[in-house]
Amino acid sequence: MVEPAEQLFEVRGLRVVYRRPGAKPLEAVKGVDFTLAEGETLGIVGESGSGKSTIAKTLLLLQPFSGGVALFRGRNIAAFTAAERRQYRRDVQMVFQDAVGSLNPRMTIRQALNEILKKSLGGVRGRQSPRSLSQTPESLLSLVGLSKAVLDQYPRELSGGQCQRASFARALTVNPKVLVADEPVSALDVSVQARILNLMRDLRRELGLAILLIAHDLSVVRNVCDRVCVMHQGLFEDTGPAEEVFDHPQSDYTKNLLAAVPDVRRSLAARTPQ
Ligand SMILES: Nc1ncnc2c1ncn2[C@@H]1O[C@H](COP(=O)(O)OP(=O)(O)O)[C@@H](O)[C@H]1O
Ligand SMILES: [Mg+2]
Repeated sequence: MVEPAEQLFEVRGLRVVYRRPGAKPLEAVKGVDFTLAEGETLGIVGESGSGKSTIAKTLLLLQPFSGGVALFRGRNIAAFTAAERRQYRRDVQMVFQDAVGSLNPRMTIRQALNEILKKSLGGVRGRQSPRSLSQTPESLLSLVGLSKAVLDQYPRELSGGQCQRASFARALTVNPKVLVADEPVSALDVSVQARILNLMRDLRRELGLAILLIAHDLSVVRNVCDRVCVMHQGLFEDTGPAEEVFDHPQSDYTKNLLAAVPDVRRSLAARTPQ
């Protein structure tokens, strides 16, 4: 019998208000609900300014939330103990749009990966899984489809796609359960985008990773995600299995969005089964 997938995130009524001195409070996220199970890929798609990155920052504990509740494996992320927070910061890793900028320019890829491997073998050695104990910069690179030649190069010597693969390798160093990828392909050429999205599918299949994929481009989430949330002005207009949301959108907002890019539906129909 197949074990049911563990629920990793359960988020209910999440609200985030930015307050800055001298400025009116800005409610960037106005109450959203979603879940993310082990091994699942959830897409959050919406135009710029709709609140997607704010959700990512909140889950990464970079931005406090003003209302609602966010549970990770049943525990409220806003009420973690110090030890829980440390473990959570390993379990939930982030990949950014600006891959080059997110890597240290003064370190080769080998140095960058070794630094994190060393750190992660300190502190919590007893709790490391066998996989992460056996990880080396070489094994991490092969996981993300990079050749060993890249190890002794600096980020500026790599292409955008190679840098993004290296930042996936870095995120995988600590053996996370969830990857939060905020616009991971927006800065890349279309042909490179497809390869990075394929890499995400492979990682999910091979490692059982859960992925929260944030993008402003519907065609980016269409092929990769099991479920999709369409975000607009701080709210989810549509939520559901990708096919349902794209084939039978409920909200006028999503209908209009799809009408503007008709090929999204067609290519969803052609998507290859996983
Ligand atoms: N640190 C911040 N302080 C104040 N307002 C912010 C901050 N970050 C984002 N915002 C505002 O919150 C809204 C949502 O932004 P964001 O979550 O970055 O949207 P998206 O990622 O969908 O483009 C926007 O109006 C943005 O200007
Ligand atoms: Mg954003």
